[in-house]
Amino acid sequence: MGLLIKNAIIVNADKIWDTRQDILCEGGKITQIASGIASGKHEIIDAAGKKVLPGLIDIHTHLRQPGREDKETIETGSRAAVKGGFTSIMCMPNTSPVIDNAMVVEFIIREAHRVGLCNVYPIGAITKGQQDGELTDMAELKASGCLAFSDDGKSVLNSRLFRLAMEYAKMLDVLIIEHCQDPLLSAGGVMNEGVVSTKIGLKGDPGIAETVTVARDIEIALYLNARVHLAHMSLARSCELIRFAKSQGIKVTAEACPHHFCLTDEACSSFDTSTKVNPPLRSKEDVEAIKKAIADGTIDCIVTDHAPHTKEDKEVGFDGAPFGLIGLETSLGLTITELVKPGIIDLSKMVDKMSFTPARIVGLANKGIIKTGADADITIIDPDHEWTVTQEGFVSKSKNSPFIGRKLKGQVEYTICGGKTVYRRV
Ligand code: DOR
Ligand code: ZN
Repeated sequence: MGLLIKNAIIVNADKIWDTRQDILCEGGKITQIASGIASGKHEIIDAAGKKVLPGLIDIHTHLRQPGREDKETIETGSRAAVKGGFTSIMCMPNTSPVIDNAMVVEFIIREAHRVGLCNVYPIGAITKGQQDGELTDMAELKASGCLAFSDDGKSVLNSRLFRLAMEYAKMLDVLIIEHCQDPLLSAGGVMNEGVVSTKIGLKGDPGIAETVTVARDIEIALYLNARVHLAHMSLARSCELIRFAKSQGIKVTAEACPHHFCLTDEACSSFDTSTKVNPPLRSKEDVEAIKKAIADGTIDCIVTDHAPHTKEDKEVGFDGAPFGLIGLETSLGLTITELVKPGIIDLSKMVDKMSFTPARIVGLANKGIIKTGADADITIIDPDHEWTVTQEGFVSKSKNSPFIGRKLKGQVEYTICGGKTVYRRV
């Protein structure tokens, strides 16, 4: 028994279809796209009035399992993902224990299968224990299922080690994702260093902590003719460096998060610890530059950096709170509200940034596109539906969102993963 989506206006990265189609999904694949497919013994979804997108793909999320199941589990994180329209997520290795050996990778994949909501791809650590001392066995981690490697949460400060990791990654054809933030320059800063940090008396983390790492990584990529992917870019200057590198043919790709194009460091004046994030919220000029870089292709994709933390962990002074905010359930709404509705990008470009290109960057060849033969990962949205972010509305185990109370446009109606309906708005 397959699934038949009727009356679909399909939005792919290259075009929005101008006629309604039916999409037949069988055996986890899209088997036919045509108008007026006869409904046999299929489950039927009527998509009239909605838009039908390839399932969203988040290549940067934090599930806290193993280790901090009080913040998030693979199950609750998967639930948040499908509610947010994501059919595939990649989870960062800063768990406890760290994802630095095959056993942890296999555990996560097994548990994600048991939950059975969306695809979960673990990201392996670059260095053992994320300690910046010794490389992990990247070949073994690749064999057990890692498509990408990162020490996210922190930079690989040791440049020689980072060079070696890039060389191995090139040999193995896997992706290195770098968290760009030199801790020696950050020096314990808790928000962006600038006028606001001075005014409210919080310790600033200067933008150069990010940009010197961006510049280093670009130079290493050039030297090795190897790929590097730069995580959560937050600054105008980072965008300039990436734009220049791309113009030189250097193999650099980059991502940005909704909070870095929807909020400025002014938000920290509330002392709301859900505005404390790494890299920090930046200036208005930086926010505008990130939007422009998304539109002109300097930034290749949009990711959530979903970073759940408990109320207890966040309900302390700003200095003592952990960095991070949740993003899986607000990413689509924020992107539609702040980028699509004002005309900075159109829906096709959004699909490019949130599905097609992330799939290409990590090598998921059958995802990110609605076409015959592709995986039946599909997200049906109503881009005009308005809703308000509320604490009670989150299905993530953690509620640390600075967007509570915001009105957003763009609602997920159905999420379909491998031809199975895994989320339906009630
Ligand atoms: O704000 C952040 N939180 N940035 C990171 O890089 C890590 C993340 C976390 O794991 O909490
Ligand atoms: Zn992260």
